[in-house]
Amino acid sequence: MLKRKDVLGLIDASEEEISEILNLAAQIKRRIQNGEKKMDDLAGKTATVLFYENSTRTRTSFEQAAKYLGATTINIVAGNSSVAKGETLVDTGKTLDAQRNDFIIIRHPMGGAPHLLAKTVKASVLNAGDGMNEHPTQALLDMLTMQETFGSLKGLKVAILGDIKHSRVAKSNLFGLKTMGAEVRMYAPETLIPRSIDKLGAKVCGSREEALDGADVVMGLRIQLERQQAGNFPSLGEYAAFYGVDEKMLSYANPNAIVLHPGPVNRGVELSSGVIDHERSRIEDQVLSGVAVRMALLKLLNEYREANA
Ligand code: CP
Repeated sequence: MLKRKDVLGLIDASEEEISEILNLAAQIKRRIQNGEKKMDDLAGKTATVLFYENSTRTRTSFEQAAKYLGATTINIVAGNSSVAKGETLVDTGKTLDAQRNDFIIIRHPMGGAPHLLAKTVKASVLNAGDGMNEHPTQALLDMLTMQETFGSLKGLKVAILGDIKHSRVAKSNLFGLKTMGAEVRMYAPETLIPRSIDKLGAKVCGSREEALDGADVVMGLRIQLERQQAGNFPSLGEYAAFYGVDEKMLSYANPNAIVLHPGPVNRGVELSSGVIDHERSRIEDQVLSGVAVRMALLKLLNEYREANA
């Protein structure tokens, strides 16, 4: 059983914990695919979705996950709440705790915000993306799609290309995949690769060809235009030509390789349209994996809460 109040990152997640989450999520995904969307594991519980940043996939899939499990859900968009009047995160947390929320799902532009919240509330906190730090549920859903395709993560060669420097998805995938025994390769312009990422276990490659050679998984990451004020590369066209993945580049990968992207995609920049819509693309499947992984986490956290009430 997952023995945690909160899910804040994969940096300290064990192989046993990740396996338990992925195996339960795989079962749940099969139930959803068979049309079973009503489960009552969270009946009588409340989950609040508290987002200080934009989102489509993560917000809706967390809400869907909580609803499928029978919880009451509340959506708070920071711009429409008392946050806009200057209320602190800790005070917002105290209010949600006083209302007896069981789960707070938070996305915040500052790295570490979910960790601060988790220390000050009784509710279980789930990190839905904190600044450039971690996006653990995205990495878990990526790993679920990989595990379903290849049976195991051990020994998989995963090539991650795109804006790695600003990416919380890259960091959570690196932590989780290394723990599960995969090789993680990274390639991007030098300005978009954190200097010490190799010390965390990534294999930093010198070319697209080296990163993609025999790769089982090709993961494109969004060029985060909103974080590019420093001008880390000359133009989007040059980025696509020299760092993007098109069908010619994909041919360097394992013939059975799958293509992933957390979304939203800059079509024609980090991945060409031909690659996004390729028969080996699993980008849409990732979205369903996201609902299943988030259901698995809510169910496991709830079991922990009930056992420790
Ligand atoms: N992958 C991801 O986090 O997407 P959203 O920003 O749409 O939630």
